[in-house]
Amino acid sequence: MKIFSLLLLLLSLSSLAHSLTSPSDLSALKSFKSAIKPSSIPPWSCLASWNFSVDPCALPRRTSFSCGLLCNPAATRITQLTLDPAGYSGTLSPLLSRLTQLTVLDLADNSFSGLIPSAISSLSNLQILILRSNSFTGAIPPSISNLKSLESLDLSHNSLAGNLPKSLVFLSALRRLDLSFNRLTGSIPKLPPNLLELALKRNSLSGYLEKSSFLESTQLEVIELSENSLAGTSPAWFFLLPSVQQINLANNSLTRVEISPAAATGSDLVAVDLGFNRIEGNVPVNFASYPALSALSLRYNRLRGTIPLEFSQMKTMKRLYLDGNFLTGKPPAEFFFGGDPVSGSLGDNCLQGCPQSSHLCAPSQKPNAVCKEAYGSGRGKGKPMT
Ligand SMILES: *[C@@H]1O[C@H](CO)[C@@H](O)[C@H](O)[C@H]1NC(C)=O
Ligand SMILES: *[C@@H]1O[C@H](CO)[C@@H](O)[C@H](O)[C@H]1NC(C)=O
Repeated sequence: MKIFSLLLLLLSLSSLAHSLTSPSDLSALKSFKSAIKPSSIPPWSCLASWNFSVDPCALPRRTSFSCGLLCNPAATRITQLTLDPAGYSGTLSPLLSRLTQLTVLDLADNSFSGLIPSAISSLSNLQILILRSNSFTGAIPPSISNLKSLESLDLSHNSLAGNLPKSLVFLSALRRLDLSFNRLTGSIPKLPPNLLELALKRNSLSGYLEKSSFLESTQLEVIELSENSLAGTSPAWFFLLPSVQQINLANNSLTRVEISPAAATGSDLVAVDLGFNRIEGNVPVNFASYPALSALSLRYNRLRGTIPLEFSQMKTMKRLYLDGNFLTGKPPAEFFFGGDPVSGSLGDNCLQGCPQSSHLCAPSQKPNAVCKEAYGSGRGKGKPMT
């Protein structure tokens, strides 16, 4: 019995030693490495250890292929390519598409440039694709929608341009999409149906928030759209998306907020940032009906009128920023009871009697002349001049 198991062990060891990475995976890895500038491969890095006189999947990996790769248990196929942030520069070889058993491709925080090859769409087992913080240019290849197993896609912090592909909607396994900090233009297309998190911060997206883009993404919890050029109204249905918890629309060109009372079934909306837009009208009082809302920013818009009493009575509210508008009247006294439970600011408005002792009242209110001009003399219907 003992001898038998020893024999088995020896057999399995020798099979490991003789295991061979499939020729097509091997050629893909060689091509991948040769598209990277040798001068950008530091001696201590993962790629420096890729010595092709040794088999990449052969164990144990002491000095060769010591990091960056994982193989399947049979040691025949590459399943993960996760590079270290060593500053590699070069392009992404299209032959990478031969690694058809790859589930994770992560090249974050390097200096890869050029196009994202559309051949990447052959990686049909890919679940995680992270090319964050590189220098990729060109458009997002529409063929990316062939990645039917893709759950997480992070192409943020590159120089990608053009429209978001309409085919994104076909990424039916996608849970997390981050395309922030690129140069994407055009409007937001129809989003994948199972998305939980959407981040498109700091691009040049324009157009309106269209119901058809969001309608089928019923699981969306986090929507980060700040620092774009979205225009028009922030519509009522947007705040009532069934799973939404966080909405960031700061630093866009929105001119109106429409908000209806939270449905009786409740809402999980926790945080809304609409700061630094061009929103006119009164403070939208219906925000006060959202049972979980704890952070709201409407700062630096063109809001007028008084601060609704309801805002000072919200039990969940922790951070409220209404500064930088043209709000008038006396702020509700409830804000200043019980040791200022709310943080934020009501400053830089046209309020009267905001107690200087409260941190909420900093910075100081606008000069009288500015407020007078904003409200016209007597009629009170003039648009604020900003
Ligand atoms: C690559 O591995 C072979 C075989 O182990 C070894 O002889 C050679 O020196 C290695 N080359 C480098 C550059 O480390
Ligand atoms: C919006 O812009 C302001 C002013 O430039 C900046 O202070 C703020 O951090 C930005 N907010 C977001 C969420 O981008």
